Amino acid sequence: MSLEKAKQVAAYRAVDEFVKGHCVFGVGSGSTVVYAVQRLAERVETENLKVICIPTSFQAKQLIIKYNLTLGELETHPNIDVTIDGADEVDSNMTLIKGGGGCLLQEKIVASCSKKMIVIADYTKDSKKLGDRYKKGIPIEVIPMAYVPIKNKVVAMFGGEIKLRSAIAKAGPVVTDNGNFILDWMFTNQDLDWEKTSNIIKLMPGVVEIGLFVKMCEKAYFGQAEGTVIER
Ligand code: 5RP
Repeated sequence: MSLEKAKQVAAYRAVDEFVKGHCVFGVGSGSTVVYAVQRLAERVETENLKVICIPTSFQAKQLIIKYNLTLGELETHPNIDVTIDGADEVDSNMTLIKGGGGCLLQEKIVASCSKKMIVIADYTKDSKKLGDRYKKGIPIEVIPMAYVPIKNKVVAMFGGEIKLRSAIAKAGPVVTDNGNFILDWMFTNQDLDWEKTSNIIKLMPGVVEIGLFVKMCEKAYFGQAEGTVIER
């Protein structure tokens, strides 16, 4: 229960701080974002706001529809005022691991079109170094035919271990909203330069996106178990 409360207070705080009037709003993915959409829907209703919502996943699109918000797309609204999204881990430099839910590609596209990207998370995501708290690794979205060579190259270059993500043990691979696979890279070197590492991995043929968000997040709100919020 306290984890849910932590997610809720962070989400409500971020929406109240960053939605001040009519705007184009990027809707992130994951369980914390559900609270942000709830709060946004309340505010749209009570304040009669005009907010165009740009989804970062199928899940986000469904949420926008469920809460009767206005669904938009990048084709018609390529300039987003603010995107509020979750994260799997946030380090002391505001570098993020994202993609625990497999939505990293669209999340990064939408964030890159946003004047501001704000993270909302519970206290378990607040960390000093990547890997201190989140143990599931860094997601890499890949074209299916290339998953083995990419896996081998990343391990040879940077070490660690890589698993092809599957929903249930022995079931087939998880397929993203974009028809790709996800590799989860369990890195062992926590002192890598994440910007360089991300750029090198992104240049490997077949890599579509990596769940490292470097210099993209302007502010993070971490909800605490007792209901307060720490801002960074
Ligand atoms: C999905 C994501 C999510 O934002 C991230 O996994 C955090 O999710 P939650 O709010 O459920 O902890 O990156 O791809």
